[in-house]
Amino acid sequence: MFAGHHKSHLLVCATLLQTFFFLFFFFSLSPTFADGARHHGGGRHSSQHKSTSPRARQQIIIGGCNLFQGSWVLDLSYPFYNSSSCPFIDAEFDCQKYGRPDKQYLKYAWKPDSCDIPRFDGGEMLRRWRGKKIMFVGDSLSLNMWESLSCMIHASVPNSKTTFARKESLSSVTFEDYGVTIYMYRTPYLVDIVREQVGRVLKLDSILGGGAWKGMDLLIFNSWHWWTHTGESQGWDYMEVGNSTLYKDMNRMDAFFMGLTTWAKWVDLNVDPSKTRVFFQGISPTHYQGREWNQPTRSCVGEQEPLSGASYPGGLPPATNVVTRVLSSMKTPVYLLDITMLSQLRKDAHPSSYSGDHSGNDCSHWCLPGLPDTWNQLLYAALAM
Ligand SMILES: *[C@@H]1O[C@H](CO)[C@@H](O)[C@H](O)[C@H]1NC(C)=O
Ligand SMILES: *[C@@H]1O[C@H](CO)[C@@H](O)[C@H](O)[C@H]1NC(C)=O
Repeated sequence: MFAGHHKSHLLVCATLLQTFFFLFFFFSLSPTFADGARHHGGGRHSSQHKSTSPRARQQIIIGGCNLFQGSWVLDLSYPFYNSSSCPFIDAEFDCQKYGRPDKQYLKYAWKPDSCDIPRFDGGEMLRRWRGKKIMFVGDSLSLNMWESLSCMIHASVPNSKTTFARKESLSSVTFEDYGVTIYMYRTPYLVDIVREQVGRVLKLDSILGGGAWKGMDLLIFNSWHWWTHTGESQGWDYMEVGNSTLYKDMNRMDAFFMGLTTWAKWVDLNVDPSKTRVFFQGISPTHYQGREWNQPTRSCVGEQEPLSGASYPGGLPPATNVVTRVLSSMKTPVYLLDITMLSQLRKDAHPSSYSGDHSGNDCSHWCLPGLPDTWNQLLYAALAM
């Protein structure tokens, strides 16, 4: 009895010691594990935020890999589809149909420095998003990406029944067998334009058009190009701040900041991040100014190869700073599809004169198949996180 009692004392002691050592190691090691995990999932802001914080979620790093840092390599298995067999391509992006003679631009794949992006599988995407709604919201660069995604998925399941609807502000492609609809909502500034007695008023503080964006499972926003337009192609006559102050014009970067801040507030107020994933498409660059890549007399015309190297000589457009600033102030986790730099390298990927819609020289949109297919591959990779 006594011996037994003694033994059980020893047992208790041993158990306590074990527990103590376990707890000691657990607590002393776990911050290291947590740190490691944060560095993988987080990034720049990781020391102040958990990996689930909005700022960390904007980061682009998957398992230590920045998807958007890399280079273009030739891949003869590209492109993902032939434009003649995709029913969703507008004439303005259909470069092969409108006489573009070279084909090498179709064969470039984006290769991140420290990982491979998963091969796009449209069937897998449809199964994963069965019964769900996806919406692109923004200008014609959103249209470019929407048509690309629709073509990529269609090429994976060419015999699947689709329904296509095209309207002024809302278009859609539905893959009926899966109940997946991909919408395109056209609103170049994200904030409202209202026709009033004085003319078209761009309301920097108002998004009444946002009703149509509710109830989506995935939202991909984009806006920038129209903020720079002047003269004929300017979409408004006055800008309005607050309820009463009209401006004939103002610094366009300030206006973009105000508009995008209004959008950010709309998202924080109206999007439930447990139901809807939100992406920002990132600033799509243009190639009208050859001096940006040290070719002062050129534009995208006749360009047949991407720039090599891992950065663009002209640097990032300042609008990217506005995007970063606004996204980092948001409550809702918004993933920045940071396609600017990789697209800057693709001076060869614009329609230039081989567009069935723009009579001049288009160094702003992108041929399909082409660069937006890579944006969608990266979207697909980010969604698989
Ligand atoms: C696309 O298909 C058409 C018709 O089959 C063919 O003539 C054309 O060469 C193809 N385009 C490319 C880029 O392979
Ligand atoms: C703007 O004016 C309308 C109608 O006059 C009013 O309902 C609304 O609350 C005002 N909005 C702001 C932001 O002041």
